[in-house]
Amino acid sequence: MTAATQSRPSISFEHDTPELAEVYDQTSDRQFEHGKNVLIPSLNLQPGEHVLDVGAGTGRLAEYVASIVGPSGRVVAVDPLPLRVDLARRRANGRFEVSVAQAEDLSAFPDESFDAVYLNSVFHWVQDKPRALAEARRVLRKGGRIALNTQNPDKPHDLRYLVEEAVTAAGLPFSAEQVQPTIGVPQTELEPLLTSAGFVDYAATLHSFDTLYSEVDELIALSTSSSFGNFLAVLSDDERERLRLAIEQVLEPKRSSGGFNLTRYLTFLTARKPQD
Ligand SMILES: C[S@@+](CC[C@H](N)C(=O)[O-])C[C@H]1O[C@@H](n2cnc3c(N)ncnc32)[C@H](O)[C@@H]1O
Repeated sequence: MTAATQSRPSISFEHDTPELAEVYDQTSDRQFEHGKNVLIPSLNLQPGEHVLDVGAGTGRLAEYVASIVGPSGRVVAVDPLPLRVDLARRRANGRFEVSVAQAEDLSAFPDESFDAVYLNSVFHWVQDKPRALAEARRVLRKGGRIALNTQNPDKPHDLRYLVEEAVTAAGLPFSAEQVQPTIGVPQTELEPLLTSAGFVDYAATLHSFDTLYSEVDELIALSTSSSFGNFLAVLSDDERERLRLAIEQVLEPKRSSGGFNLTRYLTFLTARKPQD
């Protein structure tokens, strides 16, 4: 059994709140930037193309993509979280379409209805990855492109090691895995996943991104909003405060004048549905 198909930590859509959705909309520059600068260029989108953004969140990247494909094109943004879909719909103001849907069930869309499908900072959250890829392939026209990025459990974000150290230092009755479940797909498992789903011309690259945080509270707020409330969800308020203090202690020696830097790693991939 592979990491992509074995039973995954349960990710809940029930933790999202209006505040988390709003914070994500205001602070998701990291996701927007790697989407705009790395993921979207890899699709080589053209004016007039039809594009599906799966797990679009509050629609910032879909808005950018709508400006590339222009008025003769079509962008559809879907996300399972109704609160984020509401913000995306407000942002779209008719320039792109927005609806509630999950990667594993794109039945709202006919076969072969898009030129390109992408998932930006989404695939690691998707519970049934083979099903999601089968749906993406179904809605793509022949020769259509897919692009996505995913966390890699073999190359975790710095945050992962930080949480491990802090959970131990805080003496919490949980493992780091319970506090922050491992998500993502090892790079070696990605190509077989895409190939089994019927994609060809697979290409992947690992990228790293540095973020400077001024305060631990900022780090926790960004991690909580981008995980739609799953980060630290198992902890009580008291335990969360103990962990916050422990994170501060662990980070203090690493602080520079601007704050502290944490590196994230994401595998970016592209593939194509065969012509026949
Ligand atoms: C970090 S946000 C990324 C949002 C957006 N793509 C961006 O670039 O800002 C992760 C998103 O993945 C979505 N998501 C989680 N599981 C999903 C699934 N099974 N299908 C589709 N989207 C999913 C969440 O609802 C959330 O909006």
